[in-house]
Amino acid sequence: MDRSGPGRHAPQDSEPGAHAPQVDDIRTRALAEVAAAGDARTLDEIRVRFLGRRGDLTGLLKSVGKLPADERPAAGADINAAKRAVELAIDRRGAELSQEQLARALEEEALDVTLPGRRQGVGSLHPVTQTLRRIEEIFVGAGYEVVTGPEIEDDYHNFEALNLPANHPARAMWDTFYLEDGHVLRTHTSPVQVRVMERMGPPIRIICPGRVYRRDSDLTHTPMFHQVEGLVVDEGIGFTDLKGTVVGFVQRFYDRETEVRFRPSYFPFTEPSAEVDAQCVHCGGAGCRVCGYTGWLEVMGCGMVHPNVLSMSGIDPERYTGFAFGFGADRLAMLYYGVDDLRLLFENDQRFLQQFA
Ligand code: FA5
Ligand code: MG
Repeated sequence: MDRSGPGRHAPQDSEPGAHAPQVDDIRTRALAEVAAAGDARTLDEIRVRFLGRRGDLTGLLKSVGKLPADERPAAGADINAAKRAVELAIDRRGAELSQEQLARALEEEALDVTLPGRRQGVGSLHPVTQTLRRIEEIFVGAGYEVVTGPEIEDDYHNFEALNLPANHPARAMWDTFYLEDGHVLRTHTSPVQVRVMERMGPPIRIICPGRVYRRDSDLTHTPMFHQVEGLVVDEGIGFTDLKGTVVGFVQRFYDRETEVRFRPSYFPFTEPSAEVDAQCVHCGGAGCRVCGYTGWLEVMGCGMVHPNVLSMSGIDPERYTGFAFGFGADRLAMLYYGVDDLRLLFENDQRFLQQFA
């Protein structure tokens, strides 16, 4: 290889001591960079760039061989001194940086052991869950079985099998959430009645608790709420059985004397039908904004199961009769606990919920 080609420095071109300014220059640059380095990674990178196998100072050291023999020892010593100086500076800066990091960590993670500890809160059952459990206990104690059904329901079970064919005007009694595929979010727990009658024959004695959905929101209505459906089918069941069951239940549920009244009403799936009101606990029946100034709050719908409903589900209405009811568990909770706005039950405000722990 022609070492004196263009762009190359032939050894004889070098002035005596020509390395000195270059070494000084590299050392100055290296030391300035080390002093400015803010972390170990940058330091490492500087080490590689100046002292590594292809580093600036290493390169300079390699070229010493090209110098005239009498200049080599001094140049070599010069460069080695610069390497040591840079190494030392890197080590010092490294130590400084880890000191700084330690100091920072100690400051940030400082722990005041005299501060009071953080309490671990204890959870409790939601008032509606407590209410549902009490309701189930009362009915199970009376020989009822607890059954559940789907919250996404088909049109047949939510309406049609309850004597509500397509376009029946009474479908407007429920502000229904429709799904795109024709299913609905069940508007009541009554479809579970149908599912039970399809599956088992009389005697039937069940309750079906669960969530239901309607486009509804005010002091006494929420878009999601809980109903408990009841169904009794057997020979010789009459309206007096219904009335006795409902009044007996309400008295058991409120462990205080509570007035209830039956109002004639209409449901396509029962005949005759009634709605049951409980006396408003907020005003003791005098009338207030919670009860819409009537003194009463509607808690359930009920009636004798319509013969069409029985026969659609395969039960002979000539032989069997039955009663059904569906009450709002949240309404019962509202009255039991003295809550003046039903929506509070579903806002998950801990200050509210803690009162029921
Ligand atoms: C029904 O849903 C009937 N399926 C009840 C029934 C069952 C009648 C079996 C006959 C035989 P209604 O829409 O009235 O009826 O609702 C029943 C109860 O649910 C009401 O009395 C009320 O206590 C409660 N309720 C209704 N809408 C809401 C709502 N948006 N938020 C909270 N509770 C409600
Ligand atoms: Mg009603």
